[in-house]
Amino acid sequence: MIDNPKLLQLKEELLQQTKTSDSPQTILRSDKLRQAMADIRNIDPAKRGEYGKQLNQLKQELSSVAEARQAELEQVDLKPIDVTAPMDINCQVPQLLPSSEGSRHPITQEIEKISQIFERMGYVVEESREIDDQYHMFESLNFPKDHPARDDYDTFMTEDVDKNGDRLIAPAHTSTMQNRILRKYIDNLERGEPIASIVPDRVFRNEDLDARHEHTFYQVEGVYVAKGVNVGNLISTLQEFLQEYYGQKLDVRVNPFYFPFTEPSFEFALSCPFCAGDNSNCKVCSGEGWVELLGCGLINPNVLKSAGIDPSQYSGFAFGCGIDRLIMMKYQIEDIRYLESAKLDFLKQF
Ligand code: DAH
Repeated sequence: MIDNPKLLQLKEELLQQTKTSDSPQTILRSDKLRQAMADIRNIDPAKRGEYGKQLNQLKQELSSVAEARQAELEQVDLKPIDVTAPMDINCQVPQLLPSSEGSRHPITQEIEKISQIFERMGYVVEESREIDDQYHMFESLNFPKDHPARDDYDTFMTEDVDKNGDRLIAPAHTSTMQNRILRKYIDNLERGEPIASIVPDRVFRNEDLDARHEHTFYQVEGVYVAKGVNVGNLISTLQEFLQEYYGQKLDVRVNPFYFPFTEPSFEFALSCPFCAGDNSNCKVCSGEGWVELLGCGLINPNVLKSAGIDPSQYSGFAFGCGIDRLIMMKYQIEDIRYLESAKLDFLKQF
């Protein structure tokens, strides 16, 4: 039992501090405790043994209170997720988790699977960027200046401008990379090899947010150019990819659409992997049996020309597919905002 008045006083003081500290373990190394140990030298040798014992007891008590406090700090009192909250309400103090406790984000995991499927088909994987210029967002993709289709993309503009005085932007689609890919791999064509690349990356749009719309999301762009590429090649590539990704045979539906950078352009739907149209309550396709997934088409000759490729010799296809949508369908996630929410109780399920 601690009855030495000095140690008793020290005990009260340190216990109080430990119970409210954000880093309780540091109190076990406090100067006051060190001083109490150093004081042993000045104590009457006959009383040293008893003093030492009491000091040890004090350290033990402090140590178990510090452990309890640490556990209290780490305890997460999970509240229902509010996907619209600006931050994770379940996170008490922003802190870095030890890497042993972390895991890769579901989007990262799925991008890896998507990339592996395309790599097996001979595609190389490229990255996009988070700030780009209007040439790559629009002009190189055959959107003339002031073309109304530019407005469809709800592009975030920055205040900084490029050398032409045009505002820099947060890319609103991964198609911004088409021109760069065509230029980077143009030598493949001379060697008789195709240009075949995908870009799975992040894009940004000034959207009204709801369960299906997020300002930050992911797309995978695909570009394939060679001699004599046709719509059949496009459809079979996408069908193959989607069947691999969902691990089952799927029917596809192709409807005409408009994009400035492809001609002809299509909207591509796949038979619902969950109900195939057999369930009018299906959450994924609302019982329609089809899910619109991506835009695609044969690359417009002007896009090939802007990268220095002769459209009379070569043709190609391109596609752009929402990755979040793919993942939501795969795991039946009902709200897109979970994916960017950084909410641990959602992320821990992957
Ligand atoms: N960039 C388009 C979008 O975000 C999607 C797209 C459509 C990409 C057709 C393509 C394409 O490469 O050929 O809406």
